[in-house]
Amino acid sequence: MNNLQRLQANLRENSIPALMVSNMGNVQWLTGFTGSFGAALITPDSGRMLTDSRYTVQAGEQVQDLPSFSFASPTSFVEFLHRHVSELDISTLHIDESQVTVGSYHSWTKVLKGVTLVPDEDPIHKLRMVKTAREVALVQEACQLADACLEFLLPKIKVGVTENELLLEIELFFRRNGSVISFPPIVASGERSARPHGVPSDKPLETGDFVTFDLGCKIQGYCSDITRTFVIGKATERHKEVYAQVLKAETSCIEALKAGVNGRDVDALARRILDEKGLAKYFGHGLGHGLGTLVHDSGRLSSTVDQPIELGQIWTVEPGVYIEGFGGVRIEDDVVITETGNEILTHFPKELLEL
Ligand code: GLY
Ligand code: MN
Ligand code: MN
Repeated sequence: MNNLQRLQANLRENSIPALMVSNMGNVQWLTGFTGSFGAALITPDSGRMLTDSRYTVQAGEQVQDLPSFSFASPTSFVEFLHRHVSELDISTLHIDESQVTVGSYHSWTKVLKGVTLVPDEDPIHKLRMVKTAREVALVQEACQLADACLEFLLPKIKVGVTENELLLEIELFFRRNGSVISFPPIVASGERSARPHGVPSDKPLETGDFVTFDLGCKIQGYCSDITRTFVIGKATERHKEVYAQVLKAETSCIEALKAGVNGRDVDALARRILDEKGLAKYFGHGLGHGLGTLVHDSGRLSSTVDQPIELGQIWTVEPGVYIEGFGGVRIEDDVVITETGNEILTHFPKELLEL
């Protein structure tokens, strides 16, 4: 079954007569469309892709399984939606409660006369977590290119080069290799590496810095997301101790992540291991997230989320320790859940490299 068929089967099972998919990650998952605006109207046995005139040609090329339609000025989106809802004979339309603003809901209610709008959770949110073999292959390809980017960077990581210069190298590498970044890359060195999402700056790398790279790319819309931390010059005992404990947490959590466990328990394992050295208090974010058409795809490995782990899901595992005034370490890999446990999709070495 392709993703459209999976969604239609889900609508049938749950007696949902029609759904408007408007989250762009979900639209891409469903149709392959990668433009910035669009929505798919889906019923159990039909559907249409709706976008605007900026994307008429692109939608025609990318959307294979549904007919595409676009609107242009002076027609408004809601008038256009009304026409297609009427043509498909839809009288009850489920809309994604996390996407449609209260303002849009009120104005659509006025224009879509005779149609009951039902704010609801988009079922794609859950369906998207389990990947098809094609989706796994695309993420795997994106992971291989992210590994290659780190290999390419290694000789360029040295005293005096700035975080921003390394950022440019990352962006150019992916562009030159037929890809694009999957999120704004992080390059954070020295005390700045204690910022989990440190935006690259003009700071040059200095001897004694931890430097963290968090980067990824997209292949046909599917993302990779890898983090490695290095030391510039010789690592001190403190560098080694912090790094070793984050690495132990990361590898142990990957080992524990398999079908049937709960993501909350794997997150707790990371915190227990970090606490062997009193470091859990420096780990503020969750252990990982789903990965797919969005870099932060559906699903979280977190102390606050009841997250069953299932076959075919793709997860990041990314414990980190961030000590203000000293620096930080994060190590992140991407894994797919398999019959035998999991397969790691990112392969760049993890022993502490002194550069
Ligand atoms: N690259 C952002 C993250 O690792 O979640
Ligand atoms: Mn990352
Ligand atoms: Mn991540």
